[in-house]
Amino acid sequence: MKHLLSAADLSRDEADLVLDTAEEMRSLADRPIKKLPALRGRTVVNLFFEDSTRTRISFEAAAKRLSADVINFSAKGSSVSKGESLKDTALTLQAMGADAVVCRHGSSGAPHLLAKSGWMTGSVVNAGDGTHEHPTQALLDAFTMRRHLGSLEGRRITIVGDVLHSRVARSNVLLLSTLGAEVTVVAPPTLLPVDMSNWPCGTSYDFDSVLPKSDAVMMLRVQRERMNDAYFPSAREYSRRYGLDRNRMAQLPDEAIVLHPGPMNRGMEISAEVADSTRSVIVEQVTNGVAIRMAVLYLMLSGSNEEEQKA
Ligand code: CP
Repeated sequence: MKHLLSAADLSRDEADLVLDTAEEMRSLADRPIKKLPALRGRTVVNLFFEDSTRTRISFEAAAKRLSADVINFSAKGSSVSKGESLKDTALTLQAMGADAVVCRHGSSGAPHLLAKSGWMTGSVVNAGDGTHEHPTQALLDAFTMRRHLGSLEGRRITIVGDVLHSRVARSNVLLLSTLGAEVTVVAPPTLLPVDMSNWPCGTSYDFDSVLPKSDAVMMLRVQRERMNDAYFPSAREYSRRYGLDRNRMAQLPDEAIVLHPGPMNRGMEISAEVADSTRSVIVEQVTNGVAIRMAVLYLMLSGSNEEEQKA
């Protein structure tokens, strides 16, 4: 694996390899010493043009636990504010010897441009690009579901909310279908993409009818910052029809789990009571995110390390 730009990049075998490797990395979280020497001498750059809490910190923790050197770049406070281009930023990082760049960008396709342009020779990981994809989020979500549900083959996963603006939804639909799950996305018509013909999932506008048949429900953040008010239903109306509250949660099968990628709008797409309930695996998703990102960085960078050491 040279780059990870889309969940569609992963075959079933490759996705299973990442998940199995993450299982080994996850076992480190329970040990007093959480560090491995696997990426000693490697440099990972976190290149974040958009805000992040979980993804940035998680990649930093993952790289450090594998003994890589980590450089954190945030567009805020950098020369990007003076008009520096993505190309010149990339050339600067290349000159500093980045082996992998973890890129979050507000524009869909920015990590693809970094990977394909030749500006950098290292690996590129898409850490969320615009409304397009967030493949490591999908991997950590699948990992979390697999830990609770076992194999995802034939499991019924429901993804609810602002699908139109959600890179998390697209990556999850792609990855979960690769892993054999049956995915249904639920949203108001105005928050679904117009053309979903290439999405391998079912769609519904009726949350209540899908709930009793769901092994896992993933609630999506309503991304007000990406929409104009003209097509957004009122918060109250949205919450009434598409929010997960205690009454709706009671319609789920006994073993079903509730996920949210974060950050959450408590009281909007998910009630505080549900978010903090025993069915919620939201905090666990964050822990698992470190293991997944360790696995991704390890699979990308450790092979080339070994080859260089042999040379
Ligand atoms: N889930 C997610 O990408 O969260 P952050 O925006 O905090 O990284």
